[in-house]
This record gives sequence, structure tokens and C-alpha cells, in this order.
Amino acid sequence: MAPELQPDFSIRPAVMCDLTAIRALHADALRHLSCDYYDERQIDAALRGIGTIDPALISAGTYFVAADGDGLIGSGGWSPAGQLLGCGQPNGNDIGAGSTAAAIRAVFVCPQHAGKGIARAIMAHAEWRAREAGYRVFELMSTLNAMTFYVRLGYRPVEAANLTTPDGPTLPAIKMFKGEACAA
Ligand SMILES: CC(C)(COP(=O)(O)OP(=O)(O)OC[C@H]1O[C@@H](n2cnc3c(N)ncnc32)[C@H](O)[C@@H]1OP(=O)(O)O)[C@@H](O)C(=O)NCCC(=O)NCCS
Repeated sequence: MAPELQPDFSIRPAVMCDLTAIRALHADALRHLSCDYYDERQIDAALRGIGTIDPALISAGTYFVAADGDGLIGSGGWSPAGQLLGCGQPNGNDIGAGSTAAAIRAVFVCPQHAGKGIARAIMAHAEWRAREAGYRVFELMSTLNAMTFYVRLGYRPVEAANLTTPDGPTLPAIKMFKGEACAA
């Protein structure tokens, strides 16, 4: 059964013409909600060199946006297994390769709407869709700032990681897992 939604926003599959707004939302969220953990150089390098949204997820119908009357306020999705990061291009971070868990991808919330349960609703939606596709275990690569959020949703940290960017800076992150058996 579909998760129950808050009345003031809805969740729908992203479409290609959302891409510019999604990228802007992601950059805004990282700059404002991750800045206690990463400096500007790291965030810029990650946005440029790793990317946050893989358009293939949109094509596959596994990326979702939360919208209210004014526009997009959050996004997130999943992919079958393997790549946990980035925009679909090789980026030197092969974390997740070989896994059979569904990968939770790119969960971001507009800073003005943080703390209202929007990311929780997006996660419930993405996990529900992945469960419909047969997945029972989930993994993700968490930013340092988001780790407590994912713990609240039942994920546990399994491995520290250093994400590399082509520009040089690395970003510490945490691989997290939810499910019966740990694939790490
Ligand atoms: C992490 C993020 C997605 C959380 O979005 P959100 O909509 O504010 O989260 P929610 O309101 O749904 O919070 C759900 C629960 O997690 C907790 N939580 C959310 N963000 C938290 C944070 N930064 N630190 C500690 N707890 C947090 C909430 O208090 C809430 O707890 P509850 O169980 O008591 O209700 C958002 O802060 C964000 O976009 N961050 C920047 C981008 C990013 O790092 N994304 C993750 C990529 S892996």
C-alpha cells in the first residue's frame, strides 16, 4: 500500500523537464544544509565532479519529486543495485558495485522546507517502489550531515568512505544499510 502523505505536498515521478529545478534544489540543499560538515570547495567539487542526479533514474521512473503549490521542495529515488552516486558518468567512486541491495539515490530537501518530514515521505515512497520491484534491502551513501536522518529511518552505518572528485577535494561519507542481511 502507498505510504500516507502529508496533505500540503504531493510526490510524483520526476520528468526530464524537472532536471534544471532538481539540480538547483540539490545545490541549494548542499550549500545550506551540509555546510557545517563540508566547506565550499568540497561542495563545489562534488557538484561539478560527482553530480547529484542521474537522468537515467528519471528515464527509468525511479526518481521522485515532492511538490507544493509553489514548485519542487524535495526529491529522491532508487536504482536497482550497484551505483550509489553521481550523475551516471564514471567518477572514480565505485562504492556499491556488486551489491544486490536497492540503492537509495539523491535525497534532497529545499532548505526552506527542512524539518517538515518531506525527506521521510520521499524515502517511504522510494522504498515502497523498490519493494514493489522485489527489493527487501537498501543501501545508500550518506553525507555526514544526513547520517542521523537515515538512522531515524532504520539505516545503520556500515563503512566510512572518502568520495573523490576530479578537482581534487575528497568528501568523507558513510555507506549505510537497511535490511535483514548486511551486504557490506
Ligand atoms: C538530510 C535531509 C534530506 C533531511 O530532510 P528533511 O526533510 O529535513 O528530513 P525530515 O524532516 O523528513 O526528518 C525526518 C527525521 O530525521 C531527523 N533529521 C532530519 N535531518 C536531520 C539532521 N540533519 N540531523 C539530525 N536529524 C535530522 C528529523 O528530526 C526527523 O526526526 P523524527 O524521527 O524525530 O521525526 C536534508 O537535510 C537535506 O537535504 N540535506 C542536504 C542534502 C543531503 O545531504 N542529502 C543527503 C544525501 S545522501
